[in-house]
Amino acid sequence: MSNIHCGRDLNADVKAALSMCDFTVTDSNVAALYPKLSGDAFIIPAGEKSKNTETLNAILDAMQKRGIKRGDTVAALGGGVVGDITGFAAALYMRGVDWVSIPTSLLAMVDSGIGGKTAVDFNGIKNLVGAFHSPRDIFINAEFLKTLPEREWLCGDGELIKTCLLTEDAFKLLSSSLNAVFDNDIDGIYPLITECVKIKNAVVTADPTEKDLRKILNMGHTVGHALESIDGYKLSHGEYVLKGLMTEAAMCADVMDKDFYELYIKLLKMFTSPPLSTSGAVSGKASIDKKNEGDSVSLVVPVRPGKITEVKLSHDAFRARYDSAVKILRSE
Ligand SMILES: NC(=O)c1ccc[n+]([C@@H]2O[C@H](COP(=O)([O-])OP(=O)(O)OC[C@H]3O[C@@H](n4cnc5c(N)ncnc54)[C@H](O)[C@@H]3O)[C@@H](O)[C@H]2O)c1
Repeated sequence: MSNIHCGRDLNADVKAALSMCDFTVTDSNVAALYPKLSGDAFIIPAGEKSKNTETLNAILDAMQKRGIKRGDTVAALGGGVVGDITGFAAALYMRGVDWVSIPTSLLAMVDSGIGGKTAVDFNGIKNLVGAFHSPRDIFINAEFLKTLPEREWLCGDGELIKTCLLTEDAFKLLSSSLNAVFDNDIDGIYPLITECVKIKNAVVTADPTEKDLRKILNMGHTVGHALESIDGYKLSHGEYVLKGLMTEAAMCADVMDKDFYELYIKLLKMFTSPPLSTSGAVSGKASIDKKNEGDSVSLVVPVRPGKITEVKLSHDAFRARYDSAVKILRSE
């Protein structure tokens, strides 16, 4: 699997790693903020709108024109979009070249930058086309968070909360660090980042191609991805994950420990609000989610911290539970 280098300040290591890579992809925001690191990187427009086959094609074209060979290494310097598309280009080019992941957003540090799930969106469906291709090295440098806009912190909070549900200790740490999460306090949140990196790496090492255990990382994502696609990506991925976590929990409250459920919904309400989309639209999108098997829609929910379960629902049950969950969430 990947070599992970995680630190509060890894500026020098990141610079050295980039100087050893043969081709770097970054986005327009990161390039403007970090001109010395991005150097002659291939720059894609910032945001989810770039995560498509046209941009992928442009990256592959630039790799070929710059003479990238099979033994060369590609670097992804940026958030989840840059990581997902660059990793996918690395998986495809000459049937696979090495790549280095340098996540610069909170979301990418705690989630997308680790684990080798690479993809682009296709025909309006999130991450429909992709490959499993783990980065050779991952540099998680919390220093990058100094320039992260306030809203992008919120986007990372969804994946951070999701990962902290996977162990009792991580959830305890989250509960005692909520002020740091709210205040975007880098020093206060750094122990949570390292905890999430440890947890995510353990899960993906045990199940690199999402056959079984790794599915627990999909908490909040069935409804989250559906809302994202219905809304046309108006909010960010992480904001939809927060809505997905809240809605899926309220849809499956019957399988969760009651005290934990109440605490969890209270915590999520600090970060998000119930979704506005109708059950028909959400069920339609959720039914084409690639995580489903057969005719049911699959939701992954925490029974309590450290115990995660999968709930499979028929489309009718999904719609009924969604309607009642949204009603309850709005009335509380
Ligand atoms: N591969 C996976 O396992 C996985 C997991 C979760 C999410 N994802 C994907 O990740 C993507 C979302 O990631 P994201 O939230 O990082 O989005 P993003 O890459 O669009 O980055 C968010 C914004 O922050 C900016 N930015 C990044 N780092 C910055 C910094 N240090 N300072 C200032 N601005 C900075 C970017 O330019 C962009 O405008 C989605 O496409 C989602 O599907 C993938």
